[in-house]
Amino acid sequence: MNVIVITISLLALFFLHQCRFLNSLISTARTLFKENLTGKVVLITGASSGIGEHLAYEYARRGARLALVARRKRRLQEVADVCEIIGSPESVYILGDVSNIDDCKRFIDATVNHFGQLDHLVANAGVAPVCLFEDYDDITKASPAIDINFWGSVYSSYFAQQHLKKSKGKIIVISSCAGWVFAPRTAFYNASKAALISFYETLRIEFGTRIGITIVTPRFIDTEMTEGKFLSKEGRLEVDREMRDVQVSLMPVESVENCAKAIVESARRGDRYLTVPSWMETTILWKVFCPEIMDGWNRFKILGPGSSYRDSPSKKILHVVNEIKQLLLS
Ligand SMILES: NC(=O)c1ccc[n+]([C@@H]2O[C@H](COP(=O)([O-])OP(=O)(O)OC[C@H]3O[C@@H](n4cnc5c(N)ncnc54)[C@H](OP(=O)(O)O)[C@@H]3O)[C@@H](O)[C@H]2O)c1
Ligand SMILES: *[C@@H]1O[C@H](CO)[C@@H](O)[C@H](O)[C@H]1NC(C)=O
Ligand SMILES: *[C@@H]1O[C@H](CO)[C@@H](O)[C@H](O)[C@H]1NC(C)=O
Repeated sequence: MNVIVITISLLALFFLHQCRFLNSLISTARTLFKENLTGKVVLITGASSGIGEHLAYEYARRGARLALVARRKRRLQEVADVCEIIGSPESVYILGDVSNIDDCKRFIDATVNHFGQLDHLVANAGVAPVCLFEDYDDITKASPAIDINFWGSVYSSYFAQQHLKKSKGKIIVISSCAGWVFAPRTAFYNASKAALISFYETLRIEFGTRIGITIVTPRFIDTEMTEGKFLSKEGRLEVDREMRDVQVSLMPVESVENCAKAIVESARRGDRYLTVPSWMETTILWKVFCPEIMDGWNRFKILGPGSSYRDSPSKKILHVVNEIKQLLLS
């Protein structure tokens, strides 16, 4: 059995290579037939800041009508106003919490009642809990992460599916580069994002050609999240810049504008996956070939030998580099 499977796998490798070539042909063909978004109706969850906000602007520039969902009214109102100035024929906002199933039904219904259709659902709302598993005093305080990141996307998709089938629409789900690089303190975040990938890969097979699904896996993007807005172990959203220096450190942070542009173009092509920035894709090789080294390095970098996160190596490295920069600039 071993011999047979290995031989077949090696042969398959050759054919898979040809397959990749075919795939890239297909994706080039798709760029020629990108979806025209003029007048299309797009609902974006988590549109009050960050990636969601900039996705709204990119859709607006391409003439889409928008329904923007989040919990902060003032910010949503401002985003909707900007969208109408830069090209959206009509943008409305609806207050809602995606972890609440009734809210999800309400904002999907309100969108379809108002615009008469729904073409894209962008499931983007998310929070990042950052805490060591052993440090939680009350483990139930971690559940909003799964409720918002996973269930929020699932509820919205559930109520949107009948409308998306009618319009031959699409679901764009914002996961995370989760999946292959592990960093301490992100167990719940990563689990919620990995769950999204598995869930939507399965849905894609169930829906077939009726609803297109694009799974987006961004790395660090310049938003409130990478500025240090995390879900604390008490279950509250807090800004912790020191923790930001520990978790993000010197990792390159991609601009949110570029990220949003890449996502909308990918949705127009109907891609199955998108990784931003695209060079992140190659890091999967490190995971495959030297997982122990990757895990060890991540543990050392973020946790270090000390007991407090205030003296982690990742933060020290960042500070040393910043000081050198200052020296060179002065
Ligand atoms: N930034 C990154 O480096 C990065 C990397 C990979 C993946 N992502 C993912 O990208 C998505 C957007 O994140 P971001 O970086 O743009 O962060 P962000 O600026 O903090 O945006 C998060 C958005 O989600 C909304 N939201 C949070 N909880 C919600 C709830 N219960 N109901 C409705 N809306 C809710 C927030 O609005 P309100 O607070 O007004 O409700 C906000 O608009 C997230 O799913 C995140 O996991 C980000
Ligand atoms: C997109 O569609 C709109 C209206 O449906 C049309 O006016 C416009 O010319 C189209 N744009 C392109 C590039 O085909
Ligand atoms: C876990 O999440 C963190 C923070 O976004 C990210 O740096 C890491 O790559 C993720 N890893 C996995 C395996 O999901």
